[in-house]
Order: sequence, then structure tokens, then C-alpha cells
Amino acid sequence: MSEEKLGNLGFVHRFVPAEDGSDITMLLLHGTGGNEEDLVPLGKELAPNAAILSPRGKVSEFGAPRFFRRLAEGVFDHEDLVFRTHELAEFIENAAEEYGFDKAKLVAAGYSNGANIAASLMLLHPGLIRAAVLFRSMVPFEPEMAPDLSGIPVFMAAGRRDEMISPENTQTLAGMLEGSGAEVELRWRDTGHALTYEEIGEAKEWMAGVLPKFGGV
Ligand code: MLT
Repeated sequence: MSEEKLGNLGFVHRFVPAEDGSDITMLLLHGTGGNEEDLVPLGKELAPNAAILSPRGKVSEFGAPRFFRRLAEGVFDHEDLVFRTHELAEFIENAAEEYGFDKAKLVAAGYSNGANIAASLMLLHPGLIRAAVLFRSMVPFEPEMAPDLSGIPVFMAAGRRDEMISPENTQTLAGMLEGSGAEVELRWRDTGHALTYEEIGEAKEWMAGVLPKFGGV
């Protein structure tokens, strides 16, 4: 059994085992309207030998999968966001047991809605993700108490002309994560909401530098 695509563990998801002795698992979180297949090539690009855990968001917005409900573009249903974040954390715990991967080497990579729930996971379950790559992310919510994210490396890539996310919002998220102890690398480009190949290349380079810091291979 080399690959799984299952609806059990509560989420439709894809799991791809690690190769060549890698002990990293990439948690891939797609954008609105995506699915568990979307970011698999991205995960392979960022960490070629890492295992991949890629769930499909359980919320449907007129048929488009998402990881939590929103009331309008950029306006989140906070109650649902908190509920979905805990639900996703439980899925990750169960998946680690089912597939036997090392949770201490879990790296999240998310785009847009997926990056936003990754940020929410860091705020509500600070020990769960060891590093994160956030493409086009915004503040999911303002926590009452800052979580302890000491030493968690976070790569953020943002577009100055993003039509959905203001630069201030991205900057606020970076500040929140940094204020909680995370080591944030925020990169700006003169682009919109869509991801560019150059940013994927930058994230790949960043990953190569960061993984050895926590013994990842
Ligand atoms: C969100 O809803 O998470 C953001 O507005 C981005 C998106 O539409 O995916």
C-alpha cells in the first residue's frame, strides 16, 4: 500500500508516504475551490522526499470546498473557524497514528483559505506544526492570548496587488506570529492573489535551509 486516498479519519484526504528516509510530513492545505490533489505537486516541489498529508476542506461554498465558512470575502465565521480548526487538528493527530508519521516533523504549506486555516492551527494548537509556508494569508482571528510559537519558522509570500488581502492585513498576521516568537520570513511581490513560480522557488530554498534546523531530512 503506497498511497491512500480515503474518506475515513473524518476528511477525504490523500496520503503519500515519505521516500529515501525523509522524516518530514508536508500538511497541504488547498485554497477555496481546491481539493486534496491540488497542492501535491507543490508539496513534492517544496520537499521532494517528504510524506504528504493532504485533506480536502469539509465546508462547501456553493460546491467549492473550503476549510471554514466565511460570511463574505475576507469576513470569517469565527465560530465555524474555531470548530474547523480543532477538527483539523484532531484529524492530524489521528492521521499521525494511522500512517505512523512523526508529528514533530510536520510542516504545513497552505494557499489562501488553506494558509488561513494553517495560521489558525498555529494560534489554537501552537505545538502541532513545526514550520509553515503561508501563501497569500491573512489574519484568521485575533487571539485573546498570544500562543507560544518560539522558534517556529514561517515563510510568508504576499502580493502587493492582492485583490483579496490588503498588505496591512498580511503585515498584521506576520507581526502577530513574530510577537508569539515565530521566525517569520515575509516576502513581497508586485503580484495579485495568484501564486507565482518564483515564490514557489523561494519557498523551496527557504525550506532547504530550515529543515536541517530541526533535524529534518
Ligand atoms: C478566505 O476565505 O480564507 C480568504 O478570503 C481567501 C480565500 O478566499 O480562499
